[in-house]
Amino acid sequence: MCGIFGFIGDRSAAPLLVEGLRRLEYRGYDSTGLVVKNGSLQMYKKVGKVTELSKILPNHIEGDTGIAHTRWATHGSVTDTNAHPHLNRDESIAVVHNGIIENFRSLKERLEARGMPLVSETDSEVLVHMITIGIESGQEPLEAVRQTLNRVTGTWGLCVLFKEHDLIVCARNGSPLIIGQGNGESFVSSDPHALSHHTQNMFILEDGDMAILTRNGIEISKLDGGSSSTSLTVLEDEWGEADMAGYPHYMLKEIHEQPEALRRCISGRLDKANGSARLGGLKLEPVRLRNAPLVRLIGCGTALNACKIGQLAIEILARIPAIAHVSSEFRYNDHVINPNAIHFAVSQSGETADTLSAVKEIQLKGGEVHGIINVVGSTIARLCGQGVYIHSGPEQAVASTKAFTNMVASLLLFAIRIGRTRSFSRERGRKIIESFEEIPKLMESYLSNPGPIDEAVELVKNAKSVMYLGRGLSAPVASEGALKMLELAYIPCLAYPAGEMKHGPIALLEEGSPVVVIAPNDKHREKTIASMHECKARGAKIIVIHEEGDIISDEADVAISIPSCDSLLSPLLSVLPTQLIAYRTALALGCDVDRPRNLAKSVTVE
Ligand code: M6R
Repeated sequence: MCGIFGFIGDRSAAPLLVEGLRRLEYRGYDSTGLVVKNGSLQMYKKVGKVTELSKILPNHIEGDTGIAHTRWATHGSVTDTNAHPHLNRDESIAVVHNGIIENFRSLKERLEARGMPLVSETDSEVLVHMITIGIESGQEPLEAVRQTLNRVTGTWGLCVLFKEHDLIVCARNGSPLIIGQGNGESFVSSDPHALSHHTQNMFILEDGDMAILTRNGIEISKLDGGSSSTSLTVLEDEWGEADMAGYPHYMLKEIHEQPEALRRCISGRLDKANGSARLGGLKLEPVRLRNAPLVRLIGCGTALNACKIGQLAIEILARIPAIAHVSSEFRYNDHVINPNAIHFAVSQSGETADTLSAVKEIQLKGGEVHGIINVVGSTIARLCGQGVYIHSGPEQAVASTKAFTNMVASLLLFAIRIGRTRSFSRERGRKIIESFEEIPKLMESYLSNPGPIDEAVELVKNAKSVMYLGRGLSAPVASEGALKMLELAYIPCLAYPAGEMKHGPIALLEEGSPVVVIAPNDKHREKTIASMHECKARGAKIIVIHEEGDIISDEADVAISIPSCDSLLSPLLSVLPTQLIAYRTALALGCDVDRPRNLAKSVTVE
């Protein structure tokens, strides 16, 4: 969603700001803008991609300080005027803002009554005029921003630039903001990806933090005037440069990064001797694991599909109830929270507002939440304070791939761990752990020879809809395959546990309807074959994802073979062809694979 980038130093700011905006592009946005300080504040904004903004920029913009923004419209339509930054009336102060100002209507009325001209439909614009009132009454920049924010309700990641002051003021409440400390220069961004090639030294602001950035350093304080405990974080290597590495799209690159990402995720966590897993970050003692009455797993989209696999694996291995919840529903369904239950918030970005609200709800009701998160230092990771980092590295394509496999891997590791504190045997644990170690290699082997993906694409690309079926652990894989296809290729998709198909969805099938069946060689195989027959009898074309050597391939129109592994781990392999089918179908239909329409990488509104 919205993104922020800012710079103060001795280099020309404009190229750095444009580059920063490009690195934020993957998040999804509809307009962009920047302002550079050089005696005056020079502002440029434009609806559309960063390339559209670049077209209206002069060849050279003098100035070594500036702030920039990518907007994903919430308040007010997608127009140049509504794009950020917003300037005050004498063009001496500029703001960029992520988040929502809830009381902006009443603030706007008061500003208008004072003769302040508001030119945009946005909630954010009130901030620049309120700060102006403070400055005009003699307040220093930090104080003017502080007083303004004390009158505001809502959320903010905010940067303010002043024509008369050599600094940038930043503030955070509910919308991430990260300060990068360089050599004689400072950066700010809502996203560590945009900073990581400039510096690894970062201050991840906490809610309630404010900061002053100058070229010589960073001062952090609290909104209430107190001192902040936010300290320097050195970003891990895996969060370094995330370029395309020769791939045509981030999504394809990230699909192919899965073996390496999985190696990072499981590294040091496989306990072969005990047939168990080491997840030190969870800080859950064996006795706590053994006595837990319930495990709740919470996520959205791809993370939710991973949670559903986790739910099944935990019940299978640990024999305790587990349940996967849709984050956006959680807060409103007034669930009973048992303080002894184990709760997981699963999220790639660690910033998803729906999941964040579920975490707060559980904590409010006395429960503890553990994060299963990719982005280190993200809001959910810090709010949970304990959990498992999945170590996928930066995921730039809007469609999640390598985060899915590592979320599933982390949840499977947890299922093994909690299972081993209960009745799950060491012997069976050892077998799974040995098989786990092989999965990255098996992924590589599949990705080097992915099978007849293009034949599958031919069957689905002009279809009215695509049905995805699977049973057991493969049912959530079917959901994940369907999610990838619909978000990338805009083809309506249905995903069902295969046995449920005959209770309604079968009515959709007609001559040529494509059905993707996830059918590893597990205990569900025979029943899945029966479902395939039911589909074929209605004229459906079957694309089956099966284990190598399985004669189930004879039943299908297109058969895509994956390597065999322990059936508990099969989702880590069976999801790969579904990612490739979605990717290549989107390409065949001319869709923007990395930045599908209407979607944002990190969904920070409820
Ligand atoms: O960052 P999160 O994992 O919390 O994001 C959750 C969903 O928004 C995300 O998985 C979304 O469904 C992806 N676009 C799926 O590819």
